Amino acid sequence: MGKKICVIGSSNIDQFSYVNKFPKEGETIIGESFKTGFGGKGANQAVMAGILGSDVYIISCLGNDIFAESTIDNFKKNKVNTEYIQRADVSSGVAPIWVDSRGENKIVVVPGANSEINAEEAINSIKKIKNVSYVVGQAEIPMKVNYEVFEYSKRNNILTIFNPAPGMILDDKFLDSVDWLIPNENEFEIISGLKLSKENILEFSSKIYSNLIVTLGKQGAFLVEDNKIIEFEAPSVKVADTTGAGDAFVGAFVHGMSKNLAPKESIKLAIEKASSSVQRKGTQSSYSSSSE
Ligand code: RIB
Repeated sequence: MGKKICVIGSSNIDQFSYVNKFPKEGETIIGESFKTGFGGKGANQAVMAGILGSDVYIISCLGNDIFAESTIDNFKKNKVNTEYIQRADVSSGVAPIWVDSRGENKIVVVPGANSEINAEEAINSIKKIKNVSYVVGQAEIPMKVNYEVFEYSKRNNILTIFNPAPGMILDDKFLDSVDWLIPNENEFEIISGLKLSKENILEFSSKIYSNLIVTLGKQGAFLVEDNKIIEFEAPSVKVADTTGAGDAFVGAFVHGMSKNLAPKESIKLAIEKASSSVQRKGTQSSYSSSSE
Protein backbone atom coordinates (compact mmCIF):
# COMPACT_ATOMS: atom_id res chain seq x y z
CA MET A 1 0.00 0.00 0.00
CA GLY A 2 2.92 2.37 0.39
CA LYS A 3 4.08 4.36 3.37
CA LYS A 4 1.60 5.49 6.02
CA ILE A 5 0.41 9.09 5.93
CA CYS A 6 -1.28 10.79 8.86
CA VAL A 7 -3.07 14.08 8.19
CA ILE A 8 -3.87 16.18 11.23
CA GLY A 9 -6.25 19.07 10.61
CA SER A 10 -9.68 20.51 10.09
CA SER A 11 -12.93 19.05 8.79
CA ASN A 12 -15.68 21.45 7.73
CA ILE A 13 -19.00 21.39 5.99
CA ASP A 14 -18.58 23.76 3.05
CA GLN A 15 -21.61 25.90 2.15
CA PHE A 16 -21.14 27.31 -1.33
CA SER A 17 -22.97 30.28 -2.82
CA TYR A 18 -22.12 30.76 -6.50
CA VAL A 19 -22.47 34.40 -7.51
CA ASN A 20 -21.78 36.41 -10.61
CA LYS A 21 -19.84 39.09 -8.73
CA PHE A 22 -19.01 39.38 -5.01
CA PRO A 23 -21.32 41.84 -3.18
CA LYS A 24 -19.88 45.16 -2.05
CA GLU A 25 -20.03 46.13 1.63
CA GLY A 26 -23.69 46.71 2.63
CA GLU A 27 -24.95 45.35 -0.72
CA THR A 28 -27.45 42.50 -1.18
CA ILE A 29 -27.16 40.46 -4.37
CA ILE A 30 -29.02 37.46 -5.78
CA GLY A 31 -26.87 34.34 -6.08
CA GLU A 32 -26.87 31.82 -8.95
CA SER A 33 -26.83 28.53 -7.00
CA PHE A 34 -26.06 26.91 -3.65
CA LYS A 35 -24.51 23.61 -2.62
CA THR A 36 -23.00 21.99 0.44
CA GLY A 37 -20.13 19.54 0.53
CA PHE A 38 -17.35 18.10 2.61
CA GLY A 39 -14.35 20.35 3.19
CA GLY A 40 -11.77 21.59 5.65
CA LYS A 41 -8.13 21.76 4.61
CA GLY A 42 -7.07 18.69 6.62
CA ALA A 43 -10.01 16.61 5.41
CA ASN A 44 -9.48 17.68 1.79
CA GLN A 45 -5.80 16.73 1.82
CA ALA A 46 -6.54 13.34 3.40
CA VAL A 47 -9.36 12.64 0.92
CA MET A 48 -7.18 13.47 -2.09
CA ALA A 49 -4.51 11.06 -0.80
CA GLY A 50 -7.20 8.43 -0.11
CA ILE A 51 -8.68 8.74 -3.61
CA LEU A 52 -5.21 8.24 -5.09
CA GLY A 53 -4.74 5.02 -3.09
CA SER A 54 -2.59 6.13 -0.15
CA ASP A 55 -2.57 4.41 3.22
CA VAL A 56 -3.94 7.53 4.92
CA TYR A 57 -5.28 8.31 8.41
CA ILE A 58 -7.12 11.48 9.47
CA ILE A 59 -6.80 13.01 12.93
CA SER A 60 -9.51 15.65 13.13
CA CYS A 61 -12.12 16.72 15.68
CA LEU A 62 -15.83 16.57 14.83
CA GLY A 63 -18.79 17.95 16.81
CA ASN A 64 -21.98 16.50 18.24
CA ASP A 65 -24.22 17.31 15.26
CA ILE A 66 -25.59 15.58 12.16
CA PHE A 67 -22.56 16.71 10.15
CA ALA A 68 -20.19 14.49 12.14
CA GLU A 69 -21.55 11.09 11.07
CA SER A 70 -21.85 12.06 7.42
CA THR A 71 -18.27 13.39 7.51
CA ILE A 72 -17.05 10.05 8.89
CA ASP A 73 -19.00 8.17 6.16
CA ASN A 74 -17.45 10.41 3.53
CA PHE A 75 -13.92 9.72 4.79
CA LYS A 76 -14.64 5.99 4.68
CA LYS A 77 -16.01 6.20 1.12
CA ASN A 78 -12.78 7.92 0.12
CA LYS A 79 -10.57 5.27 1.78
CA VAL A 80 -9.39 7.46 4.66
CA ASN A 81 -8.96 5.65 8.00
CA THR A 82 -11.27 7.27 10.61
CA GLU A 83 -10.25 5.31 13.73
CA TYR A 84 -8.49 8.29 15.33
CA ILE A 85 -11.11 10.99 14.80
CA GLN A 86 -11.80 12.93 18.00
CA ARG A 87 -15.21 14.26 19.09
CA ALA A 88 -16.22 17.35 21.11
CA ASP A 89 -19.57 18.44 22.50
CA VAL A 90 -19.83 21.49 20.24
CA SER A 91 -20.82 22.07 16.61
CA SER A 92 -18.68 20.72 13.76
CA GLY A 93 -16.63 23.15 11.68
CA VAL A 94 -18.44 24.98 8.86
CA ALA A 95 -17.25 27.18 6.02
CA PRO A 96 -19.57 29.59 4.18
CA ILE A 97 -17.89 30.14 0.78
CA TRP A 98 -18.67 32.55 -2.05
CA VAL A 99 -17.40 31.70 -5.53
CA ASP A 100 -17.66 34.23 -8.38
CA SER A 101 -17.92 33.68 -12.15
CA ARG A 102 -14.08 33.59 -12.46
CA GLY A 103 -14.03 30.65 -9.99
CA GLU A 104 -12.32 32.78 -7.32
CA ASN A 105 -13.51 32.39 -3.73
CA LYS A 106 -13.94 34.14 -0.40
CA ILE A 107 -14.10 31.79 2.59
CA VAL A 108 -15.08 32.24 6.24
CA VAL A 109 -14.18 29.28 8.47
CA VAL A 110 -16.09 28.85 11.73
CA PRO A 111 -13.88 26.19 13.39
CA GLY A 112 -16.25 24.77 16.05
CA ALA A 113 -14.92 21.33 17.03
CA ASN A 114 -11.68 21.93 15.07
CA SER A 115 -10.59 24.22 17.93
CA GLU A 116 -11.08 21.40 20.45
CA ILE A 117 -8.62 18.91 18.95
CA ASN A 118 -6.36 17.45 21.62
CA ALA A 119 -2.59 17.25 21.03
CA GLU A 120 -1.86 14.46 23.50
CA GLU A 121 -4.58 12.27 21.99
CA ALA A 122 -3.26 13.05 18.50
CA ILE A 123 0.27 12.00 19.47
CA ASN A 124 -1.07 8.83 21.09
CA SER A 125 -2.93 8.09 17.85
CA ILE A 126 0.28 8.46 15.81
CA LYS A 127 1.99 6.07 18.26
CA LYS A 128 -0.87 3.55 17.90
CA ILE A 129 -0.94 3.77 14.08
CA LYS A 130 2.77 2.79 14.17
CA ASN A 131 5.36 3.27 11.43
CA VAL A 132 3.89 6.55 10.16
CA SER A 133 6.16 7.95 7.44
CA TYR A 134 4.52 11.34 6.81
CA VAL A 135 2.59 13.75 9.04
CA VAL A 136 0.76 16.53 7.20
CA GLY A 137 -0.68 19.67 8.86
CA GLN A 138 -2.27 23.04 8.08
CA ALA A 139 -3.29 26.08 10.17
CA GLU A 140 -7.05 25.57 10.70
CA ILE A 141 -6.53 23.89 14.09
CA PRO A 142 -4.81 25.57 17.06
CA MET A 143 -1.11 26.03 16.22
CA LYS A 144 -0.21 24.80 19.72
CA VAL A 145 -1.48 21.36 18.63
CA ASN A 146 0.55 21.49 15.40
CA TYR A 147 3.66 22.48 17.42
CA GLU A 148 3.36 19.47 19.73
CA VAL A 149 2.52 16.98 16.97
CA PHE A 150 5.27 18.21 14.64
CA GLU A 151 7.84 18.29 17.44
CA TYR A 152 6.95 14.66 18.36
CA SER A 153 7.06 13.64 14.68
CA LYS A 154 10.46 15.23 14.10
CA ARG A 155 11.92 13.53 17.19
CA ASN A 156 10.63 10.21 15.86
CA ASN A 157 11.99 10.55 12.31
CA ILE A 158 8.57 11.04 10.72
CA LEU A 159 8.75 13.38 7.72
CA THR A 160 6.56 16.44 8.19
CA ILE A 161 4.73 18.53 5.61
CA PHE A 162 3.14 21.84 6.62
CA ASN A 163 0.76 23.88 4.50
CA PRO A 164 0.55 27.27 6.27
CA ALA A 165 -3.07 27.95 5.29
CA PRO A 166 -4.65 30.26 6.31
CA GLY A 167 -1.42 32.28 6.20
CA MET A 168 0.16 33.31 9.51
CA ILE A 169 3.55 34.18 10.91
CA LEU A 170 5.24 30.97 12.05
CA ASP A 171 7.66 30.75 14.89
CA ASP A 172 11.23 29.69 14.07
CA LYS A 173 11.17 26.75 16.46
CA PHE A 174 8.09 25.34 14.71
CA LEU A 175 9.71 25.82 11.29
CA ASP A 176 12.63 23.70 12.51
CA SER A 177 10.24 20.76 12.83
CA VAL A 178 8.96 21.05 9.23
CA ASP A 179 10.61 19.06 6.42
CA TRP A 180 8.46 20.38 3.58
CA LEU A 181 6.80 23.81 3.73
CA ILE A 182 4.13 24.41 1.06
CA PRO A 183 2.63 27.93 1.06
CA ASN A 184 0.75 29.54 -1.84
CA GLU A 185 1.86 32.96 -3.09
CA ASN A 186 -0.15 34.94 -0.47
CA GLU A 187 0.90 32.67 2.37
CA PHE A 188 4.54 32.99 1.27
CA GLU A 189 4.30 36.77 1.64
CA ILE A 190 2.75 36.46 5.12
CA ILE A 191 5.20 33.89 6.53
CA SER A 192 8.31 35.46 5.01
CA GLY A 193 7.33 39.14 5.32
CA LEU A 194 8.68 39.50 1.75
CA LYS A 195 7.02 40.23 -1.61
CA LEU A 196 6.74 37.25 -3.94
CA SER A 197 9.76 37.11 -6.24
CA LYS A 198 12.30 34.45 -7.09
CA GLU A 199 15.04 36.35 -5.21
CA ASN A 200 12.88 36.60 -2.09
CA ILE A 201 11.91 32.93 -2.25
CA LEU A 202 15.62 32.01 -2.36
CA GLU A 203 16.40 34.44 0.45
CA PHE A 204 13.64 33.03 2.69
CA SER A 205 14.58 29.46 1.81
CA SER A 206 18.20 30.06 2.85
CA LYS A 207 17.00 31.03 6.33
CA ILE A 208 14.83 27.98 7.03
CA TYR A 209 15.58 24.34 7.62
CA SER A 210 12.74 22.93 5.51
CA ASN A 211 12.41 22.25 1.80
CA LEU A 212 10.23 24.89 0.16
CA ILE A 213 7.55 24.65 -2.53
CA VAL A 214 5.52 27.78 -3.39
CA THR A 215 2.30 27.06 -5.25
CA LEU A 216 1.24 29.68 -7.78
CA GLY A 217 -2.26 28.72 -8.92
CA LYS A 218 -2.55 28.75 -12.70
CA GLN A 219 1.18 29.59 -12.96
CA GLY A 220 2.17 26.20 -11.47
CA ALA A 221 4.71 26.01 -8.65
CA PHE A 222 8.30 26.77 -7.65
CA LEU A 223 10.55 24.29 -5.87
CA VAL A 224 13.77 25.43 -4.26
CA GLU A 225 16.55 22.92 -4.81
CA ASP A 226 20.30 23.51 -4.30
CA ASN A 227 19.63 27.20 -3.84
CA LYS A 228 17.97 27.44 -7.28
CA ILE A 229 14.33 27.78 -8.30
CA ILE A 230 12.89 24.97 -10.37
CA GLU A 231 9.71 26.03 -12.19
CA PHE A 232 6.76 23.74 -12.85
CA GLU A 233 4.06 24.88 -15.26
CA ALA A 234 0.35 24.16 -14.88
CA PRO A 235 -1.80 23.23 -17.89
CA SER A 236 -4.16 25.90 -19.15
CA VAL A 237 -7.70 24.87 -18.13
CA LYS A 238 -11.21 26.37 -17.90
CA VAL A 239 -11.72 27.31 -14.25
CA ALA A 240 -15.08 26.62 -12.57
CA ASP A 241 -14.07 26.86 -8.89
CA THR A 242 -10.60 27.12 -7.33
CA THR A 243 -11.78 26.07 -3.85
CA GLY A 244 -9.67 23.23 -2.45
CA ALA A 245 -7.11 23.24 -5.29
CA GLY A 246 -4.27 23.95 -2.85
CA ASP A 247 -5.42 21.01 -0.73
CA ALA A 248 -5.57 18.77 -3.80
CA PHE A 249 -1.94 19.77 -4.45
CA VAL A 250 -0.78 18.90 -0.90
CA GLY A 251 -2.74 15.60 -0.79
CA ALA A 252 -1.40 14.49 -4.17
CA PHE A 253 2.16 15.60 -3.31
CA VAL A 254 2.29 13.52 -0.13
CA HIS A 255 0.69 10.60 -1.98
CA GLY A 256 3.48 10.74 -4.58
CA MET A 257 6.16 10.93 -1.89
CA SER A 258 4.60 8.01 0.01
CA LYS A 259 4.84 5.92 -3.16
CA ASN A 260 8.54 6.77 -3.43
CA LEU A 261 8.17 9.19 -6.35
CA ALA A 262 10.90 11.83 -6.43
CA PRO A 263 9.82 15.27 -5.15
CA LYS A 264 9.79 16.67 -8.72
CA GLU A 265 7.52 13.85 -9.91
CA SER A 266 5.30 14.32 -6.84
CA ILE A 267 4.97 18.04 -7.69
CA LYS A 268 3.96 17.21 -11.28
CA LEU A 269 1.27 14.85 -9.97
CA ALA A 270 0.14 17.51 -7.48
CA ILE A 271 -0.22 20.13 -10.24
CA GLU A 272 -2.15 17.66 -12.40
CA LYS A 273 -4.63 16.94 -9.57
CA ALA A 274 -4.99 20.61 -8.54
CA SER A 275 -5.55 21.65 -12.19
CA SER A 276 -8.13 18.92 -12.60
CA SER A 277 -10.00 20.00 -9.46
CA VAL A 278 -10.46 23.64 -10.53
CA GLN A 279 -12.47 22.50 -13.56
CA ARG A 280 -15.33 21.29 -11.35
CA LYS A 281 -17.43 23.02 -8.69
CA GLY A 282 -17.07 22.25 -4.98
CA THR A 283 -14.19 21.12 -2.83
CA GLN A 284 -13.91 17.33 -2.43
CA SER A 285 -16.63 16.90 -5.06
CA SER A 286 -14.10 18.32 -7.55
CA TYR A 287 -11.46 15.66 -6.74
CA SER A 288 -12.31 13.40 -9.71
CA SER A 289 -13.39 10.07 -8.24
CA SER A 290 -14.65 11.50 -4.91
CA SER A 291 -18.12 10.16 -4.28
CA GLU A 292 -19.47 13.22 -2.45
O1 RIB B 1 -8.98 25.09 1.16
C1 RIB B 1 -10.37 25.02 1.00
C2 RIB B 1 -11.00 24.78 2.32
O2 RIB B 1 -10.81 25.91 3.14
C3 RIB B 1 -12.51 24.56 2.29
O3 RIB B 1 -12.84 23.21 2.19
C4 RIB B 1 -12.98 25.21 3.57
O4 RIB B 1 -13.59 24.33 4.45
C5 RIB B 1 -11.73 25.82 4.19
O5 RIB B 1 -11.17 24.99 5.12
